[in-house]
Amino acid sequence: MTQEIPLFQNYPKLKTIPWVFVVNVPTPVEKMKHLSKKLGREIWVKRDDLSHEVYGGNKPRKYEFVFADALAKGKKKILTIGSIGTNHGLATTVHARRFGLETHLYLIEQKISPEVLENLACHHYFGAKLNLMRNQKHRKIAAKTKAFFDRSSYFVTMGASSPLGTLGFVNAAFELKEQIQNNEIPEPDKLFVTVGSLATCAGLVLGLELANVKTKVVGIGVTDPSWSSKENTLELAVKALEIMRQKDSSIPDVSQKLEERLIVDHSYFGGKYGEPTPEGLKAIEIAKNDGLDLEYVYTGKTLSGLIDYIRKGKVSEEDVSVFWSSKSSADLSKYVNKTDYQDLPKKFHKFFV
Ligand SMILES: Cc1ncc(COP(=O)(O)O)c(C=O)c1O
Repeated sequence: MTQEIPLFQNYPKLKTIPWVFVVNVPTPVEKMKHLSKKLGREIWVKRDDLSHEVYGGNKPRKYEFVFADALAKGKKKILTIGSIGTNHGLATTVHARRFGLETHLYLIEQKISPEVLENLACHHYFGAKLNLMRNQKHRKIAAKTKAFFDRSSYFVTMGASSPLGTLGFVNAAFELKEQIQNNEIPEPDKLFVTVGSLATCAGLVLGLELANVKTKVVGIGVTDPSWSSKENTLELAVKALEIMRQKDSSIPDVSQKLEERLIVDHSYFGGKYGEPTPEGLKAIEIAKNDGLDLEYVYTGKTLSGLIDYIRKGKVSEEDVSVFWSSKSSADLSKYVNKTDYQDLPKKFHKFFV
């Protein structure tokens, strides 16, 4: 039996929204003792990297609502898009199959790194059907066209950052509130989180507001600023709120209050998605002292933002900060070792040689 999620405990009328169990929750909260000492501030981490033993991170939280919707509509296949090393595509592949859903990935090239090749090998290992597309536009058109003509297919937007996916992080905010109430973590003043395709940050901002937690959110943008903007993040949060209020009109319309809770900062982006920054690489090394395994595309940049905010005095001495650790830390090497790249569709072989 699965325990009722905090979102439904707080708003029982939302139980009519389809939901399936994916994530091992609550994910732990831990003090980052080493970093706290180094910077002279109290810093905690929310270990969403441990959200699942096969493949965790932030994505599975979104699937609890997204896959449930697909299943409720009688769909058999998930079609989604990303770059060849997409974390979202891998998380989709790993978790969708538990529900009998087959994953089809429409991918474009990206800068090759060991992590990218590891994910690509795992897409295949866990049974994804792989399609290599010429560019972003082709990728989306191909996936959407297939979904349109094949009625057993369900299209999942980039990063599963739909209003439904966002509800996964509204729930996560209520989970954090429970941990605060249980004295597992002090109520944070600031929460640092990566902003990529938006739903993680959008859901947290909305959830913290509804849960009446004082925490302000600093979103560190790691994708093009025109996409991962504050405006787009708030727009997504408001769409998620609309879904909630359609089911339960007693939920307050907090849409006008979200703005003051959120900063989105692209100062640590480095100008290009997927490119490392020197500060991000340094943050990865520093985080190892607190037992965290970060990477340079998302979480390294976000922690570098937190460190810089503290160094620049943007976090006061009394402030408690929490870093949202959103990249799966599960070991994939055992799956990679069992995968021969020559078994992938031919178009993908060039990335491995
Ligand atoms: C590891 C990791 N952290 C954070 C993010 C950002 O989350 P979101 O896409 O919901 O903005 C992503 C994906 O973009 C990710 O793969």
